[in-house]
Amino acid sequence: MNNEEINSISKELGKFCLFNEVAEHTIKEVAKISIKRKFFPKEYVCIENHDSASLFLIDDGKVEISKKGIPLAILANGDIFGEMSLIGESSTRSATVTTKGESTLFEIPFDTFKPIMSASTEILTNLILIYDKRLRSENQVVINQYKELQAKFQQLQETNEQLLQTEKMASIGTLTASVAHEVNNPLAVILGHLSLQEIKIKKGKFVTEDAISGIDPMKKAAEAIRKIVIGLKTYVRIDSGEDTIINLNDAVTGSLDLVSFLYKKNNITLDMQLCPNNLPIKANIGKIQQVILNLLSNARDAMENSSEKKITIITKQDTNHYILALKDTGEGIPKEKHEMIFKKFYTSKPSGQGTGLGLYIISSIVQGYGGTIKLESELGSGTTFIICFPHST
Ligand SMILES: Nc1ncnc2c1ncn2[C@@H]1O[C@H](COP(=O)(O)OP(=O)(O)O)[C@@H](O)[C@H]1O
Ligand SMILES: [Mg+2]
Repeated sequence: MNNEEINSISKELGKFCLFNEVAEHTIKEVAKISIKRKFFPKEYVCIENHDSASLFLIDDGKVEISKKGIPLAILANGDIFGEMSLIGESSTRSATVTTKGESTLFEIPFDTFKPIMSASTEILTNLILIYDKRLRSENQVVINQYKELQAKFQQLQETNEQLLQTEKMASIGTLTASVAHEVNNPLAVILGHLSLQEIKIKKGKFVTEDAISGIDPMKKAAEAIRKIVIGLKTYVRIDSGEDTIINLNDAVTGSLDLVSFLYKKNNITLDMQLCPNNLPIKANIGKIQQVILNLLSNARDAMENSSEKKITIITKQDTNHYILALKDTGEGIPKEKHEMIFKKFYTSKPSGQGTGLGLYIISSIVQGYGGTIKLESELGSGTTFIICFPHST
C-alpha cells in the first residue's frame, strides 16, 4: 500500500465514530491493516457460533444482524460490527451478519488491530460507546418482540374463550331440542284435558267431576314443565353465579331430567346408582351438569354399534373424595389414546359430528375444582370415566 492509498483509506476511516478524536497517525496505522471488501447481496459476513477474528466497518450498503434466525438490527453506512467479539474473550460470533444489498466493508483483523487499540484510549472509549449503543438497541428489539408475543398470547386466550363459548352454545342448541320434546308431552296432556272439557261445556254436559278429574294430571304435567324449565335455566347460567355448595347427586338427576328422553329414544338404559348420602361439593351446578352431559353424549356415541346399550351413573364417597363414575357398554378406547382424547380438538368422529372439545372442557372444569379425571376401558366392552372431587372444606 503506497502513501496515497494509506491517506485515502485513513480519510474514509476517519468518518467512522470508532475514530472520533483519534490521532491521525493512529488512523493511518489502522488504514495499513484494513482490507476493503465488496460483498454480494445476501452474502454471509459472519456466522453465529463460528469464529471470525475481524472487525467490520460499513463503507457502503446494509447488513442484517440476527440471532437464532431472529432479526435484531439493520446496520448501514458508518456502522461497525464485530466489536463484541473484539472486546470479549473469544472471537466466536454471537450473531449472524448478512448483507442486504451489495455492500462495501472495511475488514480489520483483530490480531493486528488489538495492539493499536490497546494503545489508544480514544479508540477504546469509542468502542465502549458503540458497544453500549448496540446493547441498548438489541434490548429494545427483544422488549418489542416480548410485547408482541404478549399481545398474541392475549389474542389466543380470547379466541380460546370464544371457542369454549361456542361449544357451550352448540350444546345448548341440542338441549333446546330435547327440552322442546320434553315439554311437548306434558303440554299434550294439558291440552287434551282442556279440549275434552271444552267439548263437554259446549254440549252442556260438563259436571264438576270432569273438572276435578282433570286437575291432577294437569297439575302433574305443569309440574313436569316447571322442572324442565328450571333445569334449562340452571344449565344456561353456567358462567354466572358464584360457586356454591351443591349436592353432586342433584347435578346428576338435574342433567338426566333434561336429556333422559334422548337416551330412551336410542334404546339406551340409564342406570342410576346414587349414593344415599348428600355429596356436597363447592361448584357451579351448571358446570357440573356440562361435565355430565358431555360424558353422557360421548357414551351414547360410543355405543352406536353395541348390542347392549347401557349407561351406569354411580356416585359414591371415600375418605377424601366424592366420586362420579359414568360407565358405558361402548366400543372402548385403545390404551394409546387414553391421553390423547383429553387434548383440545382431538376427535375420532366425522367432521360435523365431533368437535374434540368435550373432554377438554370436562377436564378443565374438573381441574378447576381441584378434582381429577381418569378412565378405565376395555376394547369392545366399554369405558368408565371416573371423576374425583376433593371434600369441600
Ligand atoms: N365413552 C367413550 N367411549 C369411547 N370413546 C370415547 C368416549 N368418550 C370419548 N371418546 C373418544 O374421545 C374423543 C374425544 O371426545 P370429546 O373430547 O368429547 O370430543 P368429541 O366427542 O367431539 O369427539 C372422541 O372422539 C372419542 O374418540
Ligand atoms: Mg364429546
